[in-house]
Amino acid sequence: MARVGRMKLGSQGLEVSAQGLGCMGMSAFYGPPKPEEDMIKLIHHAVESGVTFLDTSDVYGPHTNEILLGKALKGGMREKVELATKFGISYADGKRDVRGDPAYVRAACEGSLKRLEIDCIDLYYQHRIDTRVPIEITMGELKKLVEEGKIKYIGLSEASALTIRRAHAVHPITAIQLEWSLWTRDVEEQIVPTCRELGIGIVAYSPLGRGFFSSGPKMVDTIAKDDFRKHLPRFQAENLEHNKTMFERVNEMATKKGCTPGQLALAWVHHQGSDVCPIPGTTKIENFDQNIGALSVKLTPEEMAELESIVSAEAVKGDRYSGGTSFTWMESDTPPLSSWRSE
Ligand SMILES: NC(=O)c1ccc[n+]([C@@H]2O[C@H](COP(=O)([O-])OP(=O)(O)OC[C@H]3O[C@@H](n4cnc5c(N)ncnc54)[C@H](OP(=O)(O)O)[C@@H]3O)[C@@H](O)[C@H]2O)c1
Repeated sequence: MARVGRMKLGSQGLEVSAQGLGCMGMSAFYGPPKPEEDMIKLIHHAVESGVTFLDTSDVYGPHTNEILLGKALKGGMREKVELATKFGISYADGKRDVRGDPAYVRAACEGSLKRLEIDCIDLYYQHRIDTRVPIEITMGELKKLVEEGKIKYIGLSEASALTIRRAHAVHPITAIQLEWSLWTRDVEEQIVPTCRELGIGIVAYSPLGRGFFSSGPKMVDTIAKDDFRKHLPRFQAENLEHNKTMFERVNEMATKKGCTPGQLALAWVHHQGSDVCPIPGTTKIENFDQNIGALSVKLTPEEMAELESIVSAEAVKGDRYSGGTSFTWMESDTPPLSSWRSE
């Protein structure tokens, strides 16, 4: 298998592998944590295959995914990777909160550095936007962390076009992480064009539709009882029954092309542009190998159009998150800077 190529992410000099590895499912949200030894093997296999852009967050576990990466990156591995982590979702007293105030940002960064056992984070994202804190204030602290050498590049996840612009005016944003896949297209209208105008790289999360385009609706029968996807609207029985047809048609097209449906869905994301880096998540070496195979699937404009006609926004039933629990980009605008009073 050919080694995975490289790409520039954003305009500040960061270079990453053309496909990243989402590490979330190794420790959190998708059923019980997977055996540490196997996950370390998978991470090493990814790096050896050229997938060096690793994605984690302090909320995955919480904390255990970063600890896992810290262990995996010992013995000279750290120097071979671009390590991205995130802050901003906190679980204080068991209650979920979103924080972007300077003291929290600093403490979160120190915590991640410790767990990852590194001196500097390559790409540090705000995972969700704190709508009580002007984005300029959060960015001010992140900028200080860059100046102190604790983080190299800054990213935002689930941020609106306006928030991105305001943040970028304080310090250049290197990457926006957003959900982008065949069945999640809402970012195309405003956010993607804003990133392109400002020279910001795009990191596509859940590019396989959280596994839907790899395994189809049958995946729901095999996932654990506490799997987070059991609560997502798109994975509810009545919506799945409807969305099934879409999967079947993508699968038929994949068979004709001689690839898997997951590879076809991932290739569609890769074809969005040289500024887009998808970060499919997996816990299995064989699935990882299949996913990097998507880089060799070439799609014509006609095939892209055909895929988009199968999986149009109207064809998909169910929101990507349940209301009120997601803090998506749609509710990510922050108050004006003039309103901020620091204690
Ligand atoms: N910024 C954010 O708010 C946010 C939100 C969600 C995710 N993320 C990041 O994005 C990464 C990827 O997203 P995701 O994990 O939600 O979704 P995804 O990449 O769309 O799909 C992952 C799922 O697909 C399965 N899968 C992967 N490759 C497969 C293959 N070749 N054949 C069959 N099944 C396959 C995985 O199961 P197996 O483990 O069995 O392969 C897993 O259940 C995460 O790991 C995380 O780092 C960020």
